[in-house]
Amino acid sequence: MPSIIVEPCTFALFGALGDLALRKLFPALYQLDRAGLLHADTQILALARDAGDAQLYLQQIEQHLRRHVPAAEVDAAVLQRFQARLSYLSMDFLEADDYLLLAEQVGSSERLIAYFATPASVYGGICANLAAVGLAERTRAVLEKPIGHDLESSRAVNDAVAQYFPETRIYRIDHYLGKETVQNLIALRFANSLFETQWNQNHISHVEITVAEKVGIEGRWGYFDQAGQLRDMIQNHLLQLLCLIAMDPPSDLSADSIRDEKVKVLRALAPITGEQLSQQVVRGQYVAGSSDGKAVPGYLEEENSNTRSDTETFVALRADIRNWRWAGVPFYLRTGKRMAEKMSQIVIHFKVPPHYIFDPEQRQLIGNKLIIRLQPDEGIALQVMTKDQGLDKGMQLRSGPLQLNFSDTYRSARVPDAYERLLLEVMRGNQNLFVRKDEIEHAWQWCDQLIAGWKRQGDAPKPYAAGTWGPMGSIALITRDGRSWYGDL
Ligand code: BG6
Repeated sequence: MPSIIVEPCTFALFGALGDLALRKLFPALYQLDRAGLLHADTQILALARDAGDAQLYLQQIEQHLRRHVPAAEVDAAVLQRFQARLSYLSMDFLEADDYLLLAEQVGSSERLIAYFATPASVYGGICANLAAVGLAERTRAVLEKPIGHDLESSRAVNDAVAQYFPETRIYRIDHYLGKETVQNLIALRFANSLFETQWNQNHISHVEITVAEKVGIEGRWGYFDQAGQLRDMIQNHLLQLLCLIAMDPPSDLSADSIRDEKVKVLRALAPITGEQLSQQVVRGQYVAGSSDGKAVPGYLEEENSNTRSDTETFVALRADIRNWRWAGVPFYLRTGKRMAEKMSQIVIHFKVPPHYIFDPEQRQLIGNKLIIRLQPDEGIALQVMTKDQGLDKGMQLRSGPLQLNFSDTYRSARVPDAYERLLLEVMRGNQNLFVRKDEIEHAWQWCDQLIAGWKRQGDAPKPYAAGTWGPMGSIALITRDGRSWYGDL
């Protein structure tokens, strides 16, 4: 049985028939139940606007659960227990009277977890209505991204929620923080003095963060076209990864100690303005190409698209952090849809030794790299230089990995989905995998200046063929500094 104690709660899922809830949240709750991590008294309320026969909606939830949980992990007894916890309630989230019914269902449960899987525009309304029926004091509010569209709109959402909830009971989701390998960054950096002593501009030349997706827009054109890749991925996931790599060691593992350090990094990000914008940032938009050998449409030919959008589906940029630790160490960030592979990795490039004594022709081989693979094949590899084996090889060098592959090493353990970890931590009241208000706002501030610059310069995205690694400009971005993206790209 698990050693973690999780208190009972009522878990109210607003937007229970939406894509996120059906694809990710119910399966995650089921997995927690299967792992013995839901208290026997925990109940789950599926809340959605759709009226009619509740049984039909519960069946719909079950069908999706079976689709998204691997068959070998669907256990009849657990499923029965899970279903017994689950009920459906139809309500209008902005209708105060409907919350009387909700309060009745919550009854005397001491803890309500309210998960807002709805557009952020209704978060404030939900909070006001929870408060009106006296539920707010015992509630933890979980906010899905995107929280706003820019600094101003995100402030409006955060302020609306803050009228009813203190920051200590607000859990802002960035699902990347729930991924096992992302959490491992903290262990890797702060439980190994080997790395921490090298973790600065004296020893590191540059850092790459790539989050590449193979999929296109997948029926989300309407949402995505308003957002674009900078807002959808860089403002949150990539900047969070950058913070975890760049932050100073926190004094302890508490949520605020970690978040204070992340905020310092965000505040130290150099703005990219004027001329620098075209040198340091590349926007792209995919055109028709192929993926897995099949022809796929371009962004402007996707379902529900229009033909004139300037929204970017790819961004590569060079970010600089203005502080003692990172002065002169560029962070190259790259993310896009419809790229050649689904792959997320961080590569830390260490500086070359100060005096080189080997064959001049092998000089470009030199330089250790720490490769942190987030997905797929989670693991860590440290590229080290050794001498090639054999009498005929002389002092020929060879670069090879010291490798830790998580699925081989922890063979028996399944890798939990990010949402399982995040939902568990909400139930435990642990905020350190959630994003604080000031983090979101500093991240928006930095992204807003890029977006404003693009607008001013009328910068149109550069085309790239679906199934490739993005526009040529993203290669020029890094080769201009005498470097290249790591891997067989
Ligand atoms: C979401 C973005 O936050 O992250 C999506 O809105 C993106 O556009 C997704 O596809 C990627 O998440 P993951 O876990 O598949 O890398």
